[in-house]
Amino acid sequence: MERRQLGQTDLMVSKLCLGSMTFGEQNTETDAHAQLDYALGRGINFIDTAEMYPVMASRDTQGSTERFIGSWLKKTGRRSEVVLATKIAGPNKMMPWIRGASHNLDATNIRSAVEDSLRRLHTDYIDLYQVHWPSRNLPIFGASSFNPQAERPAVPIEDTLGALGEMVQAGMIRHIGVSNESAWGVCEYIKHAEARGLPRIATVQNLYNLTARAFETSLMDEACFREGVSLLAYSPLAFGQLTAKYLDDPQAVGRLTVFPAGWSPRYVRPAVLAACAEYAALARAHGLLPSQMALAWVYSRWFVGATIIGATSLAQLEENIDAAELVLSAEVRRGIDEIHARYTNVGQ
Ligand SMILES: NC(=O)c1ccc[n+]([C@@H]2O[C@H](COP(=O)([O-])OP(=O)(O)OC[C@H]3O[C@@H](n4cnc5c(N)ncnc54)[C@H](OP(=O)(O)O)[C@@H]3O)[C@@H](O)[C@H]2O)c1
Repeated sequence: MERRQLGQTDLMVSKLCLGSMTFGEQNTETDAHAQLDYALGRGINFIDTAEMYPVMASRDTQGSTERFIGSWLKKTGRRSEVVLATKIAGPNKMMPWIRGASHNLDATNIRSAVEDSLRRLHTDYIDLYQVHWPSRNLPIFGASSFNPQAERPAVPIEDTLGALGEMVQAGMIRHIGVSNESAWGVCEYIKHAEARGLPRIATVQNLYNLTARAFETSLMDEACFREGVSLLAYSPLAFGQLTAKYLDDPQAVGRLTVFPAGWSPRYVRPAVLAACAEYAALARAHGLLPSQMALAWVYSRWFVGATIIGATSLAQLEENIDAAELVLSAEVRRGIDEIHARYTNVGQ
């Protein structure tokens, strides 16, 4: 599988990254190990996880995902073969079990989070350590417009960056990245890195799929291009909606039916369902699986450094990796842009 450079670092990663947020909730430790074995067998060398996983987040399961990856690393001894990315949770009142859900991104909390992740992962270094979401007021996870009235005290980016720099100096993490960030946030990290000789962010892990293309219109593409920051695209199938399985059978077993109703409202909006129905019809009219068209499209975008895929079975994983071979015709691309013009960023 094609390898790409992450940001301006020496990290070379497969263009597909194995996501892991189902490990410990929808997937057992045995399933997780089978997915890791299979992914590496198909040429994937890049694994993404987070201290808060699995999803749906809970006090009882938090950390299981890293633990399952750690037990696989310990069992197989394949640490040097993978580029391992994890994340520190930002503050979130819904997750008080993660360091009290406040000041998560200051020096004390960052050190404690890194030490915990290293212990769970059975490793002594993390290749890419990412800030899962910012400390400051910013619309994320389905909220789309900035609200100045929601301003709140936050750990300044400069302080977070300084603390991450100390972790790099200590050899506990090699490179850094951000997630659920804006163009302003990306540029702010770079500005402080250059001013103070601190590490540059290599990546931004943001939502990107056929129903959520704000990356292209929020100045993110230009900022990342000019600053040498790679996009790690997450949720390329819009939580499974772009496979069309819920359109074919609204009761299909999957993340959007097994978790409590209302858990993830952004992926069940009527406009998302309508857009997914049109994308599925387009794919099928060209003899493609809806999932493979949606994935092949993300895989091929010029600004995507790597696409983080997720699966709850080996069959899904196989289908999603196979899509890396698919080249979409100009006609399909035109059809995608026509649908996008009518359903712009409905899943953002
Ligand atoms: N930074 C962040 O805030 C953030 C947020 C979300 C995700 N992520 C990262 O990105 C990774 C991928 O995100 P995601 O899981 O949301 O990606 P996704 O591609 O949008 O959804 C993946 C889910 O869709 C279903 N699916 C996948 N392939 C399928 C197929 N071929 N046929 C039918 N159903 C299929 C599976 O769930 P079911 O079987 O349950 O339907 C699978 O778990 C995560 O593991 C995580 O590492 C990061």
